[in-house]
Amino acid sequence: MKFQKHSLVLVVPFVILIIWLTSAADTDRPCLRKYLDNGSADTLVCVCTADYCDSVTRAMPSSGEYVIYSSSEAGSRFEKSTGKLQSLREDGMYSINLELDPTVTYQTIDGFGGAVSDAAAITWDSLKDPGLKQNFIQSYCSSSGIQYNMLRVPIGGTDFSTRAYAYNELPENDAALTNFTLAQEDYAYKIPLIRACMEAAVAPVHVLGATWSPPPWMKTNNDYVGYSRLKKDHLQTYADYHYKFLEHYAAAGVPVWGISIANEPLHGSVNYLPYGFNNLGWTLDDMTQYIVHHLGPTLRNETSKFKHIKIISGDDLRFTITLYWNMLVLLFPETLQYLDGVAVHYYMNKYVPATILSQAMEDYPGKFVIATEICAGGVPTDAHLTSWGKAELYANDIIENLSNNVIGWTDWNMCLNMEGGPNWRGGRVDAPVKINAQAGEFYKQPMFYAIGHFSKFVPRGSRRISATVESKTDVQNLAFLTPDNTIVMVLLNKGSAEKVRIILGKKEAVLSLEAKSITTIEMLNLY
Ligand SMILES: *[C@@H]1O[C@H](CO)[C@@H](O)[C@H](O)[C@H]1NC(C)=O
Ligand SMILES: *[C@@H]1O[C@H](CO)[C@@H](O)[C@H](O)[C@H]1NC(C)=O
Ligand SMILES: *[C@@H]1O[C@H](CO)[C@@H](O)[C@H](O)[C@H]1NC(C)=O
Ligand SMILES: *[C@@H]1O[C@H](CO)[C@@H](O)[C@H](O)[C@H]1NC(C)=O
Repeated sequence: MKFQKHSLVLVVPFVILIIWLTSAADTDRPCLRKYLDNGSADTLVCVCTADYCDSVTRAMPSSGEYVIYSSSEAGSRFEKSTGKLQSLREDGMYSINLELDPTVTYQTIDGFGGAVSDAAAITWDSLKDPGLKQNFIQSYCSSSGIQYNMLRVPIGGTDFSTRAYAYNELPENDAALTNFTLAQEDYAYKIPLIRACMEAAVAPVHVLGATWSPPPWMKTNNDYVGYSRLKKDHLQTYADYHYKFLEHYAAAGVPVWGISIANEPLHGSVNYLPYGFNNLGWTLDDMTQYIVHHLGPTLRNETSKFKHIKIISGDDLRFTITLYWNMLVLLFPETLQYLDGVAVHYYMNKYVPATILSQAMEDYPGKFVIATEICAGGVPTDAHLTSWGKAELYANDIIENLSNNVIGWTDWNMCLNMEGGPNWRGGRVDAPVKINAQAGEFYKQPMFYAIGHFSKFVPRGSRRISATVESKTDVQNLAFLTPDNTIVMVLLNKGSAEKVRIILGKKEAVLSLEAKSITTIEMLNLY
């Protein structure tokens, strides 16, 4: 008797501790708020330290219920709540009615992610504390974070590196690439980040490679920057260069899903741009030769280990889709046997309507458009944007892109230092996560949550579905049918508080959207 009493005293607190620990594991951790710089309301970030980092889990809605997550300029970050679906009221009076129809489907989503540039990976590594580095990985890749499943990795250096470099720079004119190795940046920074993300991720991570500049000896100007072409006798060398990169990444545990022909080829094709960065210019003629006689046969060869890799053209400003897709495949249709799709970047979008993206693919079933780069604070028109303004910019970009049949979306640098670097050309831009290595902290900016409202809740294999807006509104929307047979809808409200009625069959959900907010709602598919 005495013994039992004694053990109860010991066991009860232990059981309580276990219950607390296990429930803590799936409890969302709120944002640890901090105002950067001058403390104005618009500099709000969420701080992660080695001991604390905010998190959010995706809760499966039960039948008859919906789950919503909301972030806003006023300071909500993935605030989760649930509501009950109601029977549709025919006389319901709301300013905004949104009717979902999961029987009308569009493109299948492949994924969301960001770029593991040298700058991002070096800055991540500068956090030193393994727990803090892991909090970054969890935040971006795991089920308690925003579930990235796509990462873009530069093949060699970019301007967002601490030096200019490519692989096999020496010996020069080494067409056999006898000295091909990866760089210290790959082994010490980029591969560890990618592998940590792959381990934490909920789905296989699709890695997209792109080259900014080959070694200078392959180029007409013998330099990393400036107006250039690939020397004609190095077209096959350049294809082999990519094959070797794929081999080395696979050997290091990172299988690559797709590569583009070049990053921003237009940049090296014109010679009057003030800010030069690592690049390679192309004529459509050379590009075709390269695709059809060199890269294509090298990768899709019987003996190739990379037969299934996606080959993507473009990877440049949106308006260049007319050049690197429409014109390329019209003038040189032989490229179509090798090209899986075209990639576009965000910059200078306002000069061309997004509809050119869906139009571009109408005649080419099976080919895709993917958005591979956006970045805020980099072009003068973005510089004035406030912090929540950048979240809106990102959410608007994703909505516009995915409304136009884009299958995947990747951001530029996953993180940068507090100055927006490093960058060997002196360039400075913003990123969703800023790293303060000295303080042993990192900061999640509103852009991070803006991406997460999509990336976390729209898993690979989701299909965009029809959503009809019955009234004129500034609230933008996207809706999906997920592989879990749920319906996910993301709403971007750039204006004042709104009441929105979402209609699904004979049911409705009435949501109050905060002013300047992004909301994700998930419910079971009742169709
Ligand atoms: C503080 O910073 C914000 C954002 O950078 C800026 O808009 C605002 O004018 C600044 N306020 C003061 C008092 O300096
Ligand atoms: C091979 O490349 C390394 C740099 O990665 C360089 O130090 C070395 O000199 C090169 N070897 C030859 C034979 O050029
Ligand atoms: C396939 O690859 C092998 C080895 O790299 C090469 O010898 C052959 O020419 C390639 N075939 C084609 C059609 O490119
Ligand atoms: C993505 O959206 C932006 C608007 O922010 C637009 O400029 C860009 O062209 C779009 N890209 C695609 C592929 O739809």
